[in-house]
Amino acid sequence: MDLSKRIDRAMMCAITQAQGGDAAAPGRLAAALNYAVTPGGARIRPTICLSVALACGDDRPALSDRAATALELIHCASLVHDDLPAFDNADFRRGKPTVHLAFSEPLAVLTGDSLIIAAFDVLAQVEDVDALRALRLTRLLARHTGMPHGICAGQGWESESTVDLGAYHRSKTAALFVAATQMGAVAAGHEPDPWTELGARIGEAFQVADDLRDALYDETALGKPAGQDAIHQRPSAVEEYGVQGAIKRLQDILGGAIASIPSCPGEAQLAQLVRLYAERMTPVAPVRV
Ligand code: IPE
Ligand code: IPE
Ligand code: MG
Ligand code: MG
Repeated sequence: MDLSKRIDRAMMCAITQAQGGDAAAPGRLAAALNYAVTPGGARIRPTICLSVALACGDDRPALSDRAATALELIHCASLVHDDLPAFDNADFRRGKPTVHLAFSEPLAVLTGDSLIIAAFDVLAQVEDVDALRALRLTRLLARHTGMPHGICAGQGWESESTVDLGAYHRSKTAALFVAATQMGAVAAGHEPDPWTELGARIGEAFQVADDLRDALYDETALGKPAGQDAIHQRPSAVEEYGVQGAIKRLQDILGGAIASIPSCPGEAQLAQLVRLYAERMTPVAPVRV
């Protein structure tokens, strides 16, 4: 089965379970959960997670699917919260109205909360034989989601008076990419540490690319509001290095990513995937100047 089918099937399973499917669960919140995860975005984090698991042998595919799903649920939750008026106050996400506009602010807060809880629940529901790996996966997901260095920390930097761009990007974005590579390895019975650099490099490059697209593209091309970093005065790679400097930085980081892939049975295929992402991430001609 191709990776996107594996991811979609596992995501739907988790959402259906979280919705409850009976009249005793609140229907609008149940609908908002589905709205927040479908149609999905690029699903890059679960794709990386499964790709690393495959490169490491993927001996427990059901567990790898759970790791990938947990990651994507956390990512979707982070976007719902990020779009709220208290954060970026964004109207569009993935080409449609954001959850708080389509439903309400209280339901968007609860949607994010419910997705985070569903993510950990997905990891808790494993066969006995997978329990030890699931525990390690849970710990990794918590570390890369919360304080002091996960997504929560990244969003927290936006409330500080001085911000180090590297620390901000590492927590806000790269943390979940490190989680993706490490959790893919752990799901397949490998150690997480050799996979840290690959996740960190893809994650940092991804945020530099996102900053470039935010500065160069328009809302139609992005499916979400453009020019947000300047509007909210957020530290960004474009502000720090300029457009050309940011593109150079992106290429430097990605060049090192391929070299950082640990030796494993699926090394060559993984290198191919990183090359593909590198091409996709590098911005083409801007449509907004
Ligand atoms: C957007 O992530 C948020 C950032 C960390 C820059 P993605 O660009 O992966 O969002 P989707 O899931 O594809 O919509
Ligand atoms: C979002 O970062 C990162 C999260 C942890 C949710 P941004 O605010 O820069 O991403 P977009 O532009 O809204 O997708
Ligand atoms: Mg934000
Ligand atoms: Mg945002």
